[in-house]
Amino acid sequence: MTTTSPTTAPWRATVLTLFPEMFPGPLGLSLAGRALASGIWALDAHDIREYALDRHRSVDDTPAGGGPGMVLRADVLARAIDAVAAPGQPRLLMSPRGAPLTQNLVRELAQGPAPLIVCGRFEGIDQRVIEARHLSEVSIGDYVLSGGEIAAMTVLDACVRLLPGVMGRLSSGEDESFSDGLLEYPQYTRPQEFEGRLIPAVLLSGDHAKIAAWRRSEAEALTKSRRPDLWARRSDEAPAKKGPKNTTDG
Ligand code: ADE
Repeated sequence: MTTTSPTTAPWRATVLTLFPEMFPGPLGLSLAGRALASGIWALDAHDIREYALDRHRSVDDTPAGGGPGMVLRADVLARAIDAVAAPGQPRLLMSPRGAPLTQNLVRELAQGPAPLIVCGRFEGIDQRVIEARHLSEVSIGDYVLSGGEIAAMTVLDACVRLLPGVMGRLSSGEDESFSDGLLEYPQYTRPQEFEGRLIPAVLLSGDHAKIAAWRRSEAEALTKSRRPDLWARRSDEAPAKKGPKNTTDG
């Protein structure tokens, strides 16, 4: 099944799934949906079952060595990958045992070419196809979903918002969480008073340097307290970025 967009779309992702009707799903709405409709990106969702080899169209079988559940067959998935993969396309397999999805990986993928994403189901996928077709396993977090589709949508959503022209004025995404290894500072808008709580006075001061310094310091404090792992990595990897708090970025 193909979700249509102009064939000239520069960032054309491919998904292999047993539930192609799940796509584009939420990616057809809001920011990603508008970008899809305008041809900034495109999505081809293919049904793995179409590549089954027998008349029952079976895609899975019992695990070698015994145990519960079913395993996706190597031969069927390999056929599907061979039929739809474009040369040079990164190949991801969504899996809770994969490498964690990071904003760095998202940025890389958004540079293109857009990935081929295999959505796992059942108890797993025959290890041999993962190796033989060079699939990189990627996890969206330390919890188990019932399948890789929602994880694949997460990857696609994170990439699409970085594509040129998708976020408009915010296109650089430079102020947001993770862009500098920091969580995002708190935001406020009108009314000035909400249930007795005021907008921090510095934000109404009009002093842009002071505002930037305040935001920086809030972002650092949040990161230290909520994500000590991110804070430690940041200190390890980017000593130059640790510098004075009142830098010019927000
Ligand atoms: N499939 C099931 N759980 C997953 C997870 N946490 N990340 C990626 N794919 C998955």
